[in-house]
Amino acid sequence: MPLKSCCIYSTGVFSILFLILGISLVLSNVFPHFLQSVVEKEIVLKNGTEAYKAWESPPAPIYMQFYFFNVTNPMEVLDGDRPAVVEVGPYTYREYRPMEQVNFHNNGTKVAAVNTKTYIFQRNMSRGPESELIRTVNIPAVTVMNKFKDDAILSNLISSYMRSSGSGLFTTRPVGQLLWGYEDGLLKALKAFQPNLDDIFGLFYKSNATNDGEYVFFTGEENYKDFARVDTWNGERNLRWWTSEECNMINGTNGASFHSVITKDEMLYMFSSDLCRSLYALYEEDVTVKGIPGYRFSPPSMVFANHTVNANNAGFCVPAGNCLGSGVLNVSVCKQGAPIIMSSPHFYQGDEKFVNDVFGMMPNKDLHQTSIDINPLTGIIMQAAKRLQINVYVEKLPTFSQTGNVRTVVFPVLYLNESVVIDDASAAKLKQVVTGQNVVDNIPFMLIGVGIILGGIFMFLMCRHKIPESTAAERQPLLSS
Ligand SMILES: *[C@@H]1O[C@H](CO)[C@@H](O)[C@H](O)[C@H]1NC(C)=O
Ligand SMILES: *[C@@H]1O[C@H](CO)[C@@H](O)[C@H](O)[C@H]1NC(C)=O
Ligand SMILES: *[C@@H]1O[C@H](CO)[C@@H](O)[C@H](O)[C@H]1NC(C)=O
Ligand SMILES: *[C@@H]1O[C@H](CO)[C@@H](O)[C@H](O)[C@H]1NC(C)=O
Ligand SMILES: *[C@@H]1O[C@H](CO)[C@@H](O)[C@H](O)[C@H]1NC(C)=O
Ligand SMILES: *[C@@H]1O[C@H](CO)[C@@H](O)[C@H](O)[C@H]1NC(C)=O
Ligand SMILES: *[C@@H]1O[C@H](CO)[C@@H](O)[C@H](O)[C@H]1NC(C)=O
Repeated sequence: MPLKSCCIYSTGVFSILFLILGISLVLSNVFPHFLQSVVEKEIVLKNGTEAYKAWESPPAPIYMQFYFFNVTNPMEVLDGDRPAVVEVGPYTYREYRPMEQVNFHNNGTKVAAVNTKTYIFQRNMSRGPESELIRTVNIPAVTVMNKFKDDAILSNLISSYMRSSGSGLFTTRPVGQLLWGYEDGLLKALKAFQPNLDDIFGLFYKSNATNDGEYVFFTGEENYKDFARVDTWNGERNLRWWTSEECNMINGTNGASFHSVITKDEMLYMFSSDLCRSLYALYEEDVTVKGIPGYRFSPPSMVFANHTVNANNAGFCVPAGNCLGSGVLNVSVCKQGAPIIMSSPHFYQGDEKFVNDVFGMMPNKDLHQTSIDINPLTGIIMQAAKRLQINVYVEKLPTFSQTGNVRTVVFPVLYLNESVVIDDASAAKLKQVVTGQNVVDNIPFMLIGVGIILGGIFMFLMCRHKIPESTAAERQPLLSS
């Protein structure tokens, strides 16, 4: 009998101990914090770590897809009609982007590297061969005309040269040439006067098998939040082409890696040399990729809003004070003076006027927004799509008859979709981590569960133990009455 009640009471004591332990572990978040600190130490750029391997040579296949806007009414546009375009694509390239010339310094807290990108055409994932013809704005001509529009003599000379050589506001060329470069007659003629001028033009000329300059990244050794954050680009901490200090800041990573332990209220900053600026993405929703849970981050419309909506963006108006509207960025200053305007595809998140100015624009969130699906514990990107449209600013230039009566318009040329989905091998590894995380996260709840079960057993035993006494006590009055 004493042994039995000893057992009963210790069951009760253990029940309470398990409950207290479990609840305090839940409240104090010890296990998740422990796991997070392990991951924070593990995800650093250090020769030999998994994170370094994935950073240096991304295992998942990256695809770059181009969609062109084929102009269908060039004559009418010259007469002042609204341009009409048809989207054609994709033309898909497999993108290889290893980090090269990797060089650790500052005791392993910084790493210098160049990101060499190579593009290989994928005929089986494209709508047609690279030889398909596209009719679009003649960008070298527009650039040259803009440059000499105020010079009465030169503009006259150039205009007659263009007339004699049959070059006008539009050009029809193969996809491969428009992207990777072709010799342009007008540029070649000008080269006679400016020998250092490059007579090759292509939207991605000199982008294949080359890099966009040297980066120095933080490795995350000192602070996990600095993992893969850009310290300098081409030796500079800031850009020069925008008109405010804030807009010129190089913030965040290069968009291909993010630090571990990501929370929903975080602003993920990234710098894109294509876009010539830094931007940020915010948590949007929970997603599941290949069975692994993650957060979807995407840039909010605030990032591309005009200066009246977001005063911080006033610095992106160039020259100072010359603002074009929401959703477009004049990147002329960082594209050798070509009148290039960047936007989201189909002017998604842009001002209505840009969408309405061109027949054929159909902005769609799913197809046209940039998004990053990220595993919050490890910061591993499970799926991402970077989407960007290249436009040309076209306007009537009185000194060039080639521009006819064209309306002033931000003319879409192409958009790109650079995307990646985690490969199966990395997904399997990540899945193990996530399963481990679930087990560890659930230990306190298991303790609470054990506490509750022991509590139940304790009560059951107590009741059984007491029933004879209580029934006896209850019967007493019954008997006496
Ligand atoms: C990483 O370590 C390997 C093997 O020790 C070595 O060959 C390689 O050069 C190192 N890489 C860097 C960037 O230090
Ligand atoms: C890019 O360069 C690689 C190797 O230099 C070459 O194989 C490939 O065809 C090039 N891609 C394009 C689109 O020119
Ligand atoms: C396309 O062809 C490449 C080889 O050139 C192959 O690796 C790839 O799996 C093919 N993709 C599709 C979708 O058929
Ligand atoms: C684009 O338009 C031109 C001119 O109408 C046409 O010749 C060409 O086939 C079109 N390209 C595609 C890919 O449809
Ligand atoms: C860079 O980050 C700072 C805050 O750290 C912010 O004020 C600034 O607007 C950011 N600039 C860009 C271009 O994102
Ligand atoms: C774009 O920026 C360039 C360089 O600052 C400027 O010359 C040009 O006028 C701007 N374009 C528009 C449409 O504002
Ligand atoms: C800025 O954007 C807002 C909202 O789209 C619009 O109402 C306003 O007219 C725009 N302002 C300018 C100067 O473009």
